[in-house]
Amino acid sequence: MTSQEIRAKFLDFFAKRGHVIVPSSSLIPDDPSVLFTTAGMQQFKRYYTGELDAVKDFKKKNAVSVQKCFRTSDIDEVGDESHLTFFEMLGNFSFGGYFKEKAIEYAYEFITEKLKLPIDYVSVFAGDKEVPADTESERIWESLGVKNVKKAGRADNFWGPTGSEGPCGPTSEVYVRGVEVWNLVFNEYYCKTRINADETRIDAEGKKILTPLKIKGIDTGLGLERLAMVVQGKPTIFETDTFEPLLKLLPETMPVRTKRILADHVRGVAFLISDGVCPSNKEAGYVLRRLMRRTMVYLHLAGNPVKPVHLFEEVFENCERFYPELNREVVLEVFDEEHQRFQATLQKGLRELARAPTLDVRSAFMLYESFGLPYEIVKELGGDKAKDLKREDFDEEFKKHQEISRAGVEKKFGGHGLVLDTGEIKAGSEEELKKVTRYHTATHLLHQALREVFGEEIAQRGSDITTERTRFDFTFPRKVTPEELKRVEDIVNEKIREDLPVQFEEMPKEEAEKTGALHFFSAKGGSASGGKWKYPTRVKVYYVGHSLEGAWNKEFCGGPHVGHTGEIGQFKIMKEEASSAGVRRIRATIV
Ligand code: SER
Repeated sequence: MTSQEIRAKFLDFFAKRGHVIVPSSSLIPDDPSVLFTTAGMQQFKRYYTGELDAVKDFKKKNAVSVQKCFRTSDIDEVGDESHLTFFEMLGNFSFGGYFKEKAIEYAYEFITEKLKLPIDYVSVFAGDKEVPADTESERIWESLGVKNVKKAGRADNFWGPTGSEGPCGPTSEVYVRGVEVWNLVFNEYYCKTRINADETRIDAEGKKILTPLKIKGIDTGLGLERLAMVVQGKPTIFETDTFEPLLKLLPETMPVRTKRILADHVRGVAFLISDGVCPSNKEAGYVLRRLMRRTMVYLHLAGNPVKPVHLFEEVFENCERFYPELNREVVLEVFDEEHQRFQATLQKGLRELARAPTLDVRSAFMLYESFGLPYEIVKELGGDKAKDLKREDFDEEFKKHQEISRAGVEKKFGGHGLVLDTGEIKAGSEEELKKVTRYHTATHLLHQALREVFGEEIAQRGSDITTERTRFDFTFPRKVTPEELKRVEDIVNEKIREDLPVQFEEMPKEEAEKTGALHFFSAKGGSASGGKWKYPTRVKVYYVGHSLEGAWNKEFCGGPHVGHTGEIGQFKIMKEEASSAGVRRIRATIV
């Protein structure tokens, strides 16, 4: 049975038993308490708490999905026989529809009848001071003929919450051929981290406040890769149909651990980029950057035996049918760009690494800061020299450094008084203010010119203005050709030559919307949009032209802008590139 057949069988089994099939949500969740989607239940959190109503949204109380997941917790284990960063999770869910009895029966039937696998044993929650033992699940398993029921405590048989708070409850795990294949979670509680009087949080060692959930629910998860390993009778997940073709592209002489890391990372990279993550020095972008650079280092050290594009092609081939959001062009472009950026320092960084007498947290951080070498590489290639290097210490150093550089920025502006800081534009002096104001108006013209060339589909996804340039991100599915860029540039310069007045009117938000003025709509997927935009009840509409009605460009905006477009100067586009999936980035200057 192929992985594709397992997915289909699972969805079909539960669809036939009153579950609605819900597509996977993005790897970047709409939930600020977590960085990535790590489990199938995450997109359903609010159905368990009663904030959302499943019947209203899905017409059913039960759902089934195959969810893309990404976990950083196992990153150091990747390379062994079973750990991954990116994986897929099959799961069935119920929000007040059924509970333990049915959930266990479904699991039993699917494993023993549909997959024809024998259950070795199951586990149930043993009980502790706060939550009683799960004798009910034990009884249900036994009534189905599963007599081997093991009991375990919080660490093994209690789930959740994801992030700082959420639904949680005792679990029951199903083992086949010695491997845990299915985790059934009986969500009965809502868990909040307890806050001490001094506002510090008590750690995760079970010291959390549990309150009963409004709606008792079911959340189950089966890692597809692991299930495929058992179904296909393979000794490791890397011999299944998902990974074998990828590993075959790598030379036999390459250490098996390296091959597995590469196979895992290229999948993670392809899916993260396709969900809108761009490499950066923080949060999801930082994780993506590490996966990319680690991939690059391993390929480099092996003498580049295969082009990364071939590895990505294999991922697309394998997964595209089920995940149409995989974006070939953007993945390759973003990877390539990062590659070029890293290429410049990679060799030097490796030389420094080889030369360093010892690798403590400071030298490891220096190698990251100056040469972009990720922690994983320093630790691994450092060998004995890095034996005392610990991830926690490195992370700590990283955090410290981020705080220092933030303080640096504040000080810089504080030094001679921050004249303006809108998030998009910052100026520390009158002189800087003049420059960024010209760039700001130029950015509006650029936005409008793009819409003139490509139509209304163009939407702004963010901009960043300095005294040297403007950087503008917008939705567009492909590379912009040089001819098109030239047209955009010409339109902007034409509007500058016309020396049109730039003015604003302030009005209630509803009225402003009716003028047709451009504004941000909260974008789905999160990361690339730079967060959600909220407008006050009264807003300013800035317009370029002689009257608001007939204006060439109108936008919701706080200003400031030049009085006439002629003040801007000559506009020049310097660069166009992919910013993330479906989002392009233009950098332009004025001379
Ligand atoms: N939330 C549980 C898990 O991720 C079951 O889906 O294992």
